[in-house]
Amino acid sequence: MVNNFTFHNQTDIRFGQDRLDAELKDAVAQFGDKVLLTYGGGSIKKSGLYDRVMKALDGLQVYELSGIAPNPKIDSVRAGQKLVQEHDIDVILAVGGGSVIDASKVIGSAKFYQGDPWDLVLDSSKRFAIDQLPLVDILTLSATGTEMNQGSVISNPETKQKLGTGGPDTPAVSFLDPALTFSVSQWQTAAGTIDIFSHLSEQYFDQSSDNDVKNGLIEGIMRTVIKWGPVAMQEPDNYDARANLMWAATMALNGLARTGNQNSWTVHPIEHELSAYYDITHGVGLGILTPHWMKFALNENSQALFAQYGRNVWHLEGFDREVAEQAIEKTRQWLASFEVPTTLAGVGIDNEDNFKAMAESAVKVGSLNNAYAPMTAADVETLLRAAK
Ligand code: NZQ
Ligand code: ZN
Repeated sequence: MVNNFTFHNQTDIRFGQDRLDAELKDAVAQFGDKVLLTYGGGSIKKSGLYDRVMKALDGLQVYELSGIAPNPKIDSVRAGQKLVQEHDIDVILAVGGGSVIDASKVIGSAKFYQGDPWDLVLDSSKRFAIDQLPLVDILTLSATGTEMNQGSVISNPETKQKLGTGGPDTPAVSFLDPALTFSVSQWQTAAGTIDIFSHLSEQYFDQSSDNDVKNGLIEGIMRTVIKWGPVAMQEPDNYDARANLMWAATMALNGLARTGNQNSWTVHPIEHELSAYYDITHGVGLGILTPHWMKFALNENSQALFAQYGRNVWHLEGFDREVAEQAIEKTRQWLASFEVPTTLAGVGIDNEDNFKAMAESAVKVGSLNNAYAPMTAADVETLLRAAK
């Protein structure tokens, strides 16, 4: 059955090359003239984007928060909260990948909160009770879909937690210029592409039935990612490869691909534990876990959907069970073709010390008892062992 859903998304998308020079100032200034510019570890300075942005913003009062790290840490949000409150900021301009945009969304809520912003991560309902600063972003990495959704994922190294949080608003304006992703490294291109694929797979394998609009949408985006990811790896400045990946990333997680769905996700909550404990790259962790998860999830009940995936995404033919198994093998081979690690040892996780704690937390935080293929902590531990 197709479940009831509400779809509401207010993001103004500006897709295409070189639009920001002419359009950025108005997009930002519509919300006021006190701007907090947020960015990461310096890729935007190296590429020249920082200078372009500063030129475009000429005449506005710009404050800066730099150094937002991958798997963004709560300390960056705390520093941002101080700045937005101290300078009574009107609008945040986030320039970077998912980490910069995710942290900026929570900073936008933290302006209107007097306590520690970690409270807002622990309990998203607190964010819905307060205002949120408008966010304009310039996306520089195709992966998370944060440019058109309400989510953020924030890490707290002290408590070894990496948690999702949602706020009331999607970004107000998102500039999606595929050419800005030409400079993304092979490692991050691989990780980003795998992340997009994982978002699609998490929403495809769902207990809702006859949900054909969302399944067809996902199958089409999956074929796109499978085709263009490897091209972007080989030809980093192939515009069409970067353009298809960028729009695929946005479409995969702007809410459309989960319409009518029923259950929660599985691989993401498990990967978030790996990143919380070992600070590994999100997409690489997903790629390690996904084939093992698919093998776990394939059973009598799920084989028809896995076979549909095999036929419509991988163009396979045959009986359900064999198509389902071949589809999982095709997925494994495609993931391995990116030449990022495919085992936990490959990302430096070479012992089982934290397996139990990570498995228990994943089941709790991700409600894995309610997943497409429900998992206990023991199941998650077995999966982690298989991925060693
Ligand atoms: O920090 P800088 O110097 O900018 O370098 C970044 C960073 O080192 C670099 N980079 C970004 N754009 C570049 C570039 N390097 C060269 N050229 C460019 N154009 O790439 C590195 C990784 O950046 P990051 O923002 O961490 O990557 P990504 O966009 O993959 O974001 C990952 C984070 O998003 C979370 C993940 O868990 C992780 O913390 N997620 C957020 C989601 C959401 N909000 O909806 C959903 C996802 O499932 C995901 O969990
Ligand atoms: Zn993800």
